[in-house]
Amino acid sequence: MARNKIALIGSGMIGGTLAHLAGLKELGDIVMFDIAEGIPEGKALDIAESSPVDGFDVKLSGTQSYEAIEGADVCIITAGVARKPGMSRDDLLGINLKVMEQVGAGIKKYAPNAFVICITNPLDAMVWALQKFSGLPKNMVVGMAGVLDSSRLKHFLADEFDVSIKDVTAFVLGGHGDTMVPIAKYTTVAGIPLPDLIKMGWTTKDRVEEIFDRTRKGGGEIVALLKTGSAYYAPAASAISMAEAYLRDQKRVLPCAVNLKGEYGIQDMYVGVPVIIGAGGAERVIEIEMSKADEKAFAASAAAVAELCETCAGIAPNLK
Ligand code: APR
Repeated sequence: MARNKIALIGSGMIGGTLAHLAGLKELGDIVMFDIAEGIPEGKALDIAESSPVDGFDVKLSGTQSYEAIEGADVCIITAGVARKPGMSRDDLLGINLKVMEQVGAGIKKYAPNAFVICITNPLDAMVWALQKFSGLPKNMVVGMAGVLDSSRLKHFLADEFDVSIKDVTAFVLGGHGDTMVPIAKYTTVAGIPLPDLIKMGWTTKDRVEEIFDRTRKGGGEIVALLKTGSAYYAPAASAISMAEAYLRDQKRVLPCAVNLKGEYGIQDMYVGVPVIIGAGGAERVIEIEMSKADEKAFAASAAAVAELCETCAGIAPNLK
């Protein structure tokens, strides 16, 4: 059987990490695309030169031409401008929307059967625009945010309780921004929900709120520390888990930004919800029951995403 082909559109900090992880996991041959000449070629060669040490058999190449992504099974999009200190995700909107238009056209022409994972921020609006620009089926275009936000929350909780990350599950839903909604009821340690852990005296309501808040601001915390860019290890690992779920038909239940067709009362918008990812792409949205407070927070988060999409449609009327 021929190897899978993975196209990475954008070969910056996340793109490079994606290529390395995809190589280490032997997910398929990797094509790195970027408008910056030499960057994808250099990173592809550097990673290829590490493959004999780590023993992975994949071909890596770098390109400035969309033709090279022809027939890709998975496309992961990080092309665009990353958030700088003091810059909100929304500031990026105008610049990255134009990038999505180019990327959408490239994918439409050369990789119309791919499973597309968008990472470029502001995520929920960019993935929505990318699906429209590319014309690919809605179940085949998803956004990576929830896996990252949930992973951050899991890390903070494992640290707080001094337990293995393997025993922590967490769900962070809604838009990828300060309005994201961590769901306490479905956040567990070995199946014990957070509200029960509070009752058991493992933690307090206030402490949980602090951890939720740190999760909401997780991206900003890294930006403030790095000063010259945004997070890349955890975002790349998150997107790779989604690509792997698709390529290996794992049917994983992952929080992703998916196009909603009435689920959660939302029409034709991308918002983070739990979804089964397998060979059919985003196969099935899971509608969980939320507390009244979470429902309200989720609605506010969805409204923030809707506002971003409206702004996008104002800039690019062909998105309507
Ligand atoms: N087509 C292809 N690549 C592009 C384009 C374009 N039109 N415009 C910019 N790029 C490339 C840049 O040359 C750069 O190499 O996208 C790459 C982005 O890489 P970084 O600046 O290193 O950003 P990164 O940290 O990888 O984050 C990428 O993901 O999390 C989001 O907010 C983040 O939107 C940002 C994206």
